[in-house]
Amino acid sequence: MTFLPVHAIVNLRMLFLLIGACCILVGVNGGWDEEVGLLRRGRGGAGGGYQREFDYFKLSLQWPGTYCRRTRRCCSSNACCSRSNSPPVFTIHGLWTEYNDGTWPACCSGKAFDEREISTLLEPLRKYWPSLSCGSPRSCHHRKGSFWAHEWEKHGTCAYPVVHDEYEFFLTTLNVYFKYNVTEVLLEAGYVPSDSDKYPLGGIISSIENAFHATPELTCSGDALEELRICFYKNFEPRDCARDTSTLSRGSCPQYVSLPAQGSWEIRSSNTTAAS
Ligand SMILES: *[C@@H]1O[C@H](CO)[C@@H](O)[C@H](O)[C@H]1NC(C)=O
Ligand SMILES: *[C@@H]1O[C@H](CO)[C@@H](O)[C@H](O)[C@H]1NC(C)=O
Repeated sequence: MTFLPVHAIVNLRMLFLLIGACCILVGVNGGWDEEVGLLRRGRGGAGGGYQREFDYFKLSLQWPGTYCRRTRRCCSSNACCSRSNSPPVFTIHGLWTEYNDGTWPACCSGKAFDEREISTLLEPLRKYWPSLSCGSPRSCHHRKGSFWAHEWEKHGTCAYPVVHDEYEFFLTTLNVYFKYNVTEVLLEAGYVPSDSDKYPLGGIISSIENAFHATPELTCSGDALEELRICFYKNFEPRDCARDTSTLSRGSCPQYVSLPAQGSWEIRSSNTTAAS
């Protein structure tokens, strides 16, 4: 072993520290660049070309009473077939990344869904983010997957740099969903699930506006409310979903909409269970 003078050791240490720091920086930058590179390239998304960073989030919630009325076939992945008599609540469809011009990025980083990464979240996810059909939606790598795989790969991967990974995406979505309880707002305003009553769409929109100080977006199937979406800035403060709130928030809905109760589909789906 050769002995180096003290100042040489100190200098060597400095050198190692510097090299270390450089490597870390290069590593981090390399990682980010790669991430951004993938983000920009996109995969199977909107044309597969350059996809710039998103502008805002849209939390899309689905009304099970409306979705489940369409149930014709049962399977283990379809929560319409297994629901108990608990009162209906809006469930999560997804947390989507949007551009202000009405388009959106899709399938950004190419990271495939891995259920093991969210193993600690499965209980609330099954409860609040269930699939309401038997279909296996196409995810981003030209293969079909679960509802969660589709949502992560198509939308979650584009939430960078606000959301960095799959676990953070699902946790963040649950947290936002818990914080902004749309079901509670509608119940408190008197819009209770019913198979006979209809409610003014404007009243539903106003109740959300009063609670969250932002205009939601609604979609319907016939006169039944199907989805209710609330939007957020990147810091998760609520914002209007559409620029022209007077026309776009109404979506496909008529002036009076229904909120089908859950009972109607339970009977039908338990009947089709036996049939299939
Ligand atoms: C939202 O509010 C409804 C009605 O009060 C309640 O049943 C439900 O558990 C709440 N959901 C969450 C996620 O807190
Ligand atoms: C569906 O429900 C009806 C009425 O309850 C019953 O008579 C029929 O047997 C059921 N069909 C199946 C396939 O279970």
